[in-house]
This record gives sequence, C-alpha cells and structure tokens, in this order.
Amino acid sequence: MEKIIEKMYEEAIKAYKNAYTPYSKFNVGAAVLLKDGTIIKGCNIENASYGLSNCAERTTLFTTYAMGYKKDDIEKFLIVANTKRPVSPCGACRQVMAELMNLDTEVFLTNLNRDVKVMKVSELIPYSFSGEDLNE
Ligand code: THU
Repeated sequence: MEKIIEKMYEEAIKAYKNAYTPYSKFNVGAAVLLKDGTIIKGCNIENASYGLSNCAERTTLFTTYAMGYKKDDIEKFLIVANTKRPVSPCGACRQVMAELMNLDTEVFLTNLNRDVKVMKVSELIPYSFSGEDLNE
C-alpha cells in the first residue's frame, strides 16, 4: 500500500472499531482524503428501526460536507470491512457517492486482509441518475 493509502486505511480501521452495529455486528469504516491532506473518517451506525441505519460511506461523506468541504476537495475515498473480497459498497451509497464525489475520483475498496481493489465512482455506478436529469 502507498503510504497515504496506508494512513487512510489506519483511519478507516479506527472508524471501523467505532461502528455501532448491535444488530448486524457487521462493522464498516471509511475515510476521505482531502486535497489539503486532511483525513475524515466515518462508520456505520445502526438503529433498532433497521431502515434508519446509516452506512459508513454515507456517514463519512455527510461529515465531509458538514465540515464545509465539497466534491472538488476530495482526493480519494477508502472503505474497509471484514469481507473475503474487498468490500462492495451498497447501491444506496454508490448513488450518494455519485452525488457528492466527482465521477473520476478513485475509491479504494479494502478488507481486514489488506486486499485492495481500486474503482472510480463512475465504475461503481455507471449511467447514474443525477441532478442534471431533473432539468431535462
Ligand atoms: N454497510 C455499510 O456501512 N457499508 C457497506 O458498504 C455495506 C453495508 C452496513 C449497513 C449495516 O449497518 C451493516 O453494514 C450490514 O448491512
């Protein structure tokens, strides 16, 4: 792993440990690397009303925006979970990534074995629905 990716991975693992998952027991951590070098992390947070649970990817991207950053500030994104293959983000999070990140931004999918798969947002969600479709 490249040094900066290693740093993102370490932050995502810290968030992974903070995940609130009393129902699924499936922890996920994520980290955004900003162009200024700042790393913002997040985890999944579940609810007894299951549908209200929030995935790690969305927690992290919402936090990034809540802190005042926008898609052009985001350099890379990384996700980690205890999966055999590098974690595959859910469809809802792919749609949110398409909204809140540039389509050519790289997403590092990882797992606890440190396997890595790199995909651009556009590869994770091809032909995505966007705000531009609303204006036609
Ligand atoms: N989850 C994530 O946080 N990210 C993913 O990419 C897949 C699923 C969460 C949602 C729920 O808290 C738990 O993992 C099991 O689905």
